[in-house]
Amino acid sequence: MRYKSTVILAIETSCDDTCAAVVADSVADGSGGRRALSNVVHTQTEHARYGGVVPEVASRAHLERLDGVVEAALSEAGVTLDDIESIAVTVRPGLIGALLVGLSAAKGLAYARGLPLIPVDHLEGHVAAAYLTDPDLEPPFIAGIASGGHTALYSVDGDHGLHLLGKTLDDAAGEALDKGARMLGLGFPGGPALSKAAASGDPGRYEFPIALMQKDSLDFSFSGLKTSLLYRLKELDEVQVREALPDLAAGYEAAVVEALSRKLLRAVEREGASTLVVAGGVAANAPLRRRLGEACHASGTRLVIPSPDLCTDNAAMIGAAALYTPRVPYPEYLDLNARSI
Ligand SMILES: Nc1ncnc2c1ncn2[C@@H]1O[C@H](COP(=O)(O)OP(=O)(O)OP(=O)(O)O)[C@@H](O)[C@H]1O
Ligand SMILES: [Mg+2]
Repeated sequence: MRYKSTVILAIETSCDDTCAAVVADSVADGSGGRRALSNVVHTQTEHARYGGVVPEVASRAHLERLDGVVEAALSEAGVTLDDIESIAVTVRPGLIGALLVGLSAAKGLAYARGLPLIPVDHLEGHVAAAYLTDPDLEPPFIAGIASGGHTALYSVDGDHGLHLLGKTLDDAAGEALDKGARMLGLGFPGGPALSKAAASGDPGRYEFPIALMQKDSLDFSFSGLKTSLLYRLKELDEVQVREALPDLAAGYEAAVVEALSRKLLRAVEREGASTLVVAGGVAANAPLRRRLGEACHASGTRLVIPSPDLCTDNAAMIGAAALYTPRVPYPEYLDLNARSI
């Protein structure tokens, strides 16, 4: 079911981005349907020196920032809390402490304003970013999520639920990019850093393995890729690594792009789908967008990939998923809990 004519304040704090957004769906008044009126993301910089996200640091930083981020989201949208009809919040999966900061704030706001609360699954949120990108998009379609913590393929049918077709058996695609970038001495997050280094590289000089390509598999595996990079680096001395860096980055990135693209296109073909949605932080990757764009153009498949800022973590996607998620009234929402997985 789609809730019509509503204005939602959405909160997302599942990892290291403190996010709030206002999403409206005014389809009932004929003014254009679902859209983000604001989408504020504060990326925590506290983690950079650790080379990865530190859960306790993330919780504290959310606590310090969230009020200001919510105020900014309301003000950028040109609304006040009086205009808000429900509060949406990510409740799973993510870092438990980080999720609890967002959920507690959402409960407090809902209680203070007498509003219902909408608990949203972060992965359904990533897919729902596509509803803001293409206002005409409706299921059924195939959805691929490639992010820092997840890599999976789903068929999405009329109920807007995600039905699993395949997933990674080890690392997520974003995790593989982050770890590869770290091995190459590049920055964090690794996806964009690797892309930058790869821009002037030759992806054909070093070939990296693409796993699980047997005919019937829709699963992914990225651990062999990582090991392969490790062995390559052991064969080279420091000067050689420096010289080969763009080529190593390009070859490594190309292997991730190919692994994702082939499985996504295979799922579309196998399910006889006419639409493919790709979401999650790795969907911001330019070579992946190009590769899928060309293949889908050739096969006549409708491809929807949210803009890069809607691919990485944000609250507009949570608001978009909330348009299709049942509201929980007071006092039931007081019992809602966050779940790490
Ligand atoms: N331009 C890009 N190219 C490739 N990878 C990218 C790009 N931008 C971001 N990423 C990768 O996306 C990941 C972050 O995505 P996202 O914010 O969706 O993940 P997450 O929220 O940490 O994980 P999850 O959504 O699974 O809980 C990181 O691994 C990052 O390296
Ligand atoms: Mg995410």
